[in-house]
Amino acid sequence: MQQLTQIIDFEHIEVDESWCFKNVRSTEQWTHGYHRYPAKFLPNIVKKLIEEYATDDSIVADIFAGCGTTLVEAKIHGKPSIGVDINPVAQLIAQVKTRAMLSDRLLLEYDKLVDTFESFKESDVQEADVHERLDYWFRKEEKNKIIFLHEEISKIKETDFRNFFLICLSNILKNCSQWLQSSTKPQIDKLKEPNDPFDAFQKHCKKMIKQNRNYYEELFENGFLDIPCEIRLGDARNTKIADNSVGIIITSPPYVTSYEYADIHQLTGFLFKYIDNLPEFRKDFIGTFYSNNQDTNTPTPSSQKIVDELFARDEKKAREVANYFNDMYEVGKEMYRILKPNGHACIVIGNTTFKDVKIKSAEIFFEMLLSVGFREEKVIKRSIPYKLIPAIRDKKTGKFTTLDNKNSKLVYPEEYILILKK
Ligand SMILES: C[S@@+](CC[C@H](N)C(=O)[O-])C[C@H]1O[C@@H](n2cnc3c(N)ncnc32)[C@H](O)[C@@H]1O
Repeated sequence: MQQLTQIIDFEHIEVDESWCFKNVRSTEQWTHGYHRYPAKFLPNIVKKLIEEYATDDSIVADIFAGCGTTLVEAKIHGKPSIGVDINPVAQLIAQVKTRAMLSDRLLLEYDKLVDTFESFKESDVQEADVHERLDYWFRKEEKNKIIFLHEEISKIKETDFRNFFLICLSNILKNCSQWLQSSTKPQIDKLKEPNDPFDAFQKHCKKMIKQNRNYYEELFENGFLDIPCEIRLGDARNTKIADNSVGIIITSPPYVTSYEYADIHQLTGFLFKYIDNLPEFRKDFIGTFYSNNQDTNTPTPSSQKIVDELFARDEKKAREVANYFNDMYEVGKEMYRILKPNGHACIVIGNTTFKDVKIKSAEIFFEMLLSVGFREEKVIKRSIPYKLIPAIRDKKTGKFTTLDNKNSKLVYPEEYILILKK
């Protein structure tokens, strides 16, 4: 590992108001509102990063692509892009969000699909064919309508239309289930009155159709409809993207043991048959609570200091955090490998606290990136408008929760944008 000459004191960086976007009212322009996704990017950040740092026509990459915010913005700016995510639900959302379609054809398909609702008969539904875990999350009446919707959508021949409706269905699943509404944790709420799947589907689909039209028209007017965008199912530690091929990386890694992306997307995962066995499915997600690596050695002195401090208070947590730092070191090396010389890496990342130990993920990752060869360009500190991020942690479990929880504690009031150059 290369020796570092200087470490920036992140605590004392002033908040840069020009990156806070305090007056942003909607985050749903273009196709950004298609699907909920925990910790998704504020599109304005990506837009500003592209405008300031993606100055040529080379590829924009996001190796933790999530629901595809970077890729949607890249296309709007006429830039080719590539995204990688380990989560097949994310891959599908991002694919749909980046493919604008002709509205008239889409509307026709929508009308045909809605017409089939009249033929719905509960007794015809083939329940045996779906994962048994769905019985835990859905009441019978909603489950049957969802299975019916899934079957009808699956009959659509053209992939883009089929995927569009699948994403609409995926987005309404939580509201139609017994999943505790305000929680990202998988938790049942027996008292919840779920939405009717047919009504919820039509309502959300109409919104998506409108957003698709705006996205299509914008891309069409600028001649950007055919700008390439590839979304791969893969691992950020080994993206299989060619050496020195990417002009800029704009990404936001998973937070350390906060969101269990595998678990959060299980309704879609089970229904679309992406998941058979949840523990197996979780295996390669970074930042997971279910880490099985027992190694507490980490790659840099400051990551080690944090892990050692945490180890004295909570051994299991210390192992999870060590695992995260080790994974992120591999990610740093991969970023360096795929970037062209002089290309930029822009990473949005926040710090957090467990058991009163400050987990300085931003500083640590910055230090790792320098150690793998990157040069420092800029570190921006921004404050996060409270409404845009569920920034509440349960003091006991350390997981994200809601303010109603009496154990709740505010975290991530600020985050950093690390900008480095290869
Ligand atoms: C903070 S989210 C990214 C959100 C994204 N910026 C957006 O706007 O939707 C982190 C993402 O990392 C993904 N992820 C977790 N482990 C991964 C891995 N090993 N390789 C690639 N992606 C991974 C998760 O599935 C999640 O989508």
